[in-house]
Amino acid sequence: MTADGAADQAATWFGGCYGAEPEGVWHAPGRVNLIGEHTDYNEGFVLPFALSQGVRAAASRRGDGLLELRSRQAPDEPATMPLSRLVPGSVTGWAAYPAGAAWALTEAGLAIGGASIAIDADLERGAALSSSAALECATALALTELHGLSVPRPELAELARRAENEFAGIPTGIMDQSASLLCQAGHALLLDCRSGESSDVPFDLPAAGLVLLVVDTRVRHALADGRYAARRRACEEAARVLGVRALRDVTDDPGALDRIADPVLRRRARHVVTENRRVLATVRLLRAGDIAGCGPLLSASHRSLRDDFDISWPQADAAVDAAVSAGALGARMTGGGFGGSAIALVPVDRTDGMASTVRAAFAEARYREPEIRGAQPSTGAERVS
Ligand code: GLA
Repeated sequence: MTADGAADQAATWFGGCYGAEPEGVWHAPGRVNLIGEHTDYNEGFVLPFALSQGVRAAASRRGDGLLELRSRQAPDEPATMPLSRLVPGSVTGWAAYPAGAAWALTEAGLAIGGASIAIDADLERGAALSSSAALECATALALTELHGLSVPRPELAELARRAENEFAGIPTGIMDQSASLLCQAGHALLLDCRSGESSDVPFDLPAAGLVLLVVDTRVRHALADGRYAARRRACEEAARVLGVRALRDVTDDPGALDRIADPVLRRRARHVVTENRRVLATVRLLRAGDIAGCGPLLSASHRSLRDDFDISWPQADAAVDAAVSAGALGARMTGGGFGGSAIALVPVDRTDGMASTVRAAFAEARYREPEIRGAQPSTGAERVS
């Protein structure tokens, strides 16, 4: 669907819910993380890009202080509550993310008022493409712009993250909300998760004759199930053992990790330390115009996530192996792990062959049929109508 078509569809859904036209429609994209996994909460580096798919929030102000939420993807789960009564834990399910965004804005002292919001999305939930961050960001942008507030994007990303961490109760880092709000078309976003500094890194796939395929393995992950939090705790423990503020601080000394006696903790830390290096190496190659050269770094990232960080899953490993055997330059799981999607960097002329090889591998292993599509680095969140 075109961007205009998607905006119209959201406006029509709003009309069906509230019997009026929305004052505006805001789009916030999902993301693919090219490289830099589980580095954000270790104050390291990430390199995501925005997808063309995302979440639309069609919205209008209302004068009674109520926040009314509807989702076309969950029509049977509407939610209405006074803005003034929002507290963490007071809303559950899909509505916790937009309600959390409203809560975070009010907590920050921003004078938003009530609103009616109708959500529409073309982003699968649980595919590790940041549907929840897109939901938070679309809502946060809609609420601020509706009420005439201009909040710098990095600050808005922080508030959207508070929605996720404190309101929905999921201890993620800052990557997904930053990607959704800051990315530029044709570029990936290098984000230093310690300083908050970011820069756009050229990522022109068509010019390089390459395609980035996203393989949704159809295994659903939930960051809320505790394993993500367990990895985060392990990283914090490793940093404590090493006497550093965060694993970001472990850089040049190759023997540094030997000071971690526990072998599992050592492997967890090794992933983060080596992954930060891979992000910076990828950025150097992209800035030199060598996208193809990034392939081996993607594959090395996957091995590290599989063997050291232990968050891959059989379908992701199968997708990566099949992709590489069919001529992908590199492939890896993407996102928080334990389910969701893998990505593969593929020469244009190998795309069809690679997709059929992955499908055949899944069929042979009796896995659910994967969904495979190309991703284009797209623009960050914006008003679309
Ligand atoms: C999820 C989280 C991010 C990040 C990734 C792993 O997407 O929301 O903050 O930690 O997992 O890189």
